[in-house]
Amino acid sequence: MTAAIEMRGITKTFGPVKALTDATLVVQPGTIHGLIGANGAGKSTIIKILAGIYARTSGTVTVMGKEMGVITPATIEAEGVHFIHQDRLLVPTATVAEAIFLRNEPRFGPFISYRQMNRQASELLRQYFDMELDPRTLISDLSTAQQKIVQITRALANKAKVLVLDEPTAALVKKEVDNLFVVLRRLKAEGRAIVFISHYMAEIEEICDVVTVLRNGSDVGVVTPADVGIAKIVEMMTNRDASEMYPRREPVIGKPALSVRNLTVAGAFQDVSFDLYEGEILGITGLLGSGDKDLLKALFGQVTPDSGEIMLNGKTVHFRTPVQAVRNGVAKIPEDRRAHGVATGLSVGENISLASLDQMSSRGFVQRDAEARNVDALIAELGIKTPGRHTLVKNLSGGNQQKVVVAKWLSCNSQVYLLDEPTVAVDVGAKVEIYNLMNRLALEGKALIFLSSDLEEITEMCDRTLVIYRGEIIAEYQRGEIDANRLLAVASGAALNQKETA
Ligand SMILES: Nc1ncnc2c1ncn2[C@@H]1O[C@H](COP(=O)(O)OP(=O)(O)OP(=O)(O)O)[C@@H](O)[C@H]1O
Ligand SMILES: [Mg+2]
Repeated sequence: MTAAIEMRGITKTFGPVKALTDATLVVQPGTIHGLIGANGAGKSTIIKILAGIYARTSGTVTVMGKEMGVITPATIEAEGVHFIHQDRLLVPTATVAEAIFLRNEPRFGPFISYRQMNRQASELLRQYFDMELDPRTLISDLSTAQQKIVQITRALANKAKVLVLDEPTAALVKKEVDNLFVVLRRLKAEGRAIVFISHYMAEIEEICDVVTVLRNGSDVGVVTPADVGIAKIVEMMTNRDASEMYPRREPVIGKPALSVRNLTVAGAFQDVSFDLYEGEILGITGLLGSGDKDLLKALFGQVTPDSGEIMLNGKTVHFRTPVQAVRNGVAKIPEDRRAHGVATGLSVGENISLASLDQMSSRGFVQRDAEARNVDALIAELGIKTPGRHTLVKNLSGGNQQKVVVAKWLSCNSQVYLLDEPTVAVDVGAKVEIYNLMNRLALEGKALIFLSSDLEEITEMCDRTLVIYRGEIIAEYQRGEIDANRLLAVASGAALNQKETA
């Protein structure tokens, strides 16, 4: 059988950085092919070479048996290969229909037939995604999940033979992921080839027929997840044993750092009360829309509570803006880091220093040496893969950009840290580095709130866990009292009759 995609001997250098060395990727029609590897392994780079975004330094690319010379986005699309990139977004001012039919608009003579375009867009969305979406909606009004769907629909409208998805699920909730998988299986059954990049090993196991593992810019194996198992694949990726995931610490709990009393934000959560202690990692978990994220926003001055009280070290505070929260020693690592966390046009060092400038500057001067030392220490501690602190963040891999944001907020010496899904889209190794940092902060006497939808992470890392359900705290557990499966049941409201209210 002719391979849908055959990339051999692919090498790519960016100045001194060798992103790919003699890498191979061969994808057969009618298969879902996983591409996995640690942050910075070269996944996005090999995909961007195929997409004609980067020119390869050397190597050959064949699509359906046809050898491609210089690839441009237009020539590769003409071969029926379509991409959902990790970091490229749609034009926000286009409508859904315009985005779907970009460069392929149905015409009536020389004119674009908007009526036909809107109708076809609606049909495709309904047919593949069972989705009723007004085709005249602006892209900027769509959720991340809807934008991904529009990108995939565009590929379908163009009768894609190969669909490449770079971390499509990172911003999706479970149900959206399930819907996406239904569509991918259907495309596979139609004989199309799919390349699927993800850091979620459970997804890889669920959806991929075969997986290429990249490590440090080279392929280190092509395996069938069903045969070798995920633990083995993780080992190939990182060269480390997956069982050392959760580093231990002996908690030393001090006095209350943050106290919340009867806090209410109408429509989001009500009557929430709890204390967070120095040296403590407090988990908060709940289903999507349970109010956990709104609670963090209220604590960080992004939302004004309707009633109730927030106290820092026993003193009532009213943060009207995040800046006030930061000045008072509260830091937050935001979840949507691409949109809010990182300035991609600035260097790694500048980004890490941004949040802490206040603290570093003495009488108006930034103490450059102290700053540089601090930045270098964090780069090393988090294992950020970069030639140095002067590299622009936009030149880092997606996961390494996330680590920069984590470093940025950890660099400001705060008392309370609000961590909103800090490990989303980072690889297994980087997760461990973030866990180690959390433990270090707690041992220094800082107080941490840890929000995560990965319940194993919560049960393994937190000293105590609060479960929030429909805006109310319905249960509280000490470390070791509950496992991830039961926690999920409680968070889903399944165990409400055994309520153990805080
Ligand atoms: N435009 C660029 N300029 C310089 N270096 C780059 C550029 N793009 C990527 N790199 C480097 O190439 C290497 C591979 O990056 P790539 O984005 O392919 O990783 P990845 O496997 O997609 O990682 P992630 O899981 O974090 O998205 C990294 O070391 C990265 O810093
Ligand atoms: Mg990437």
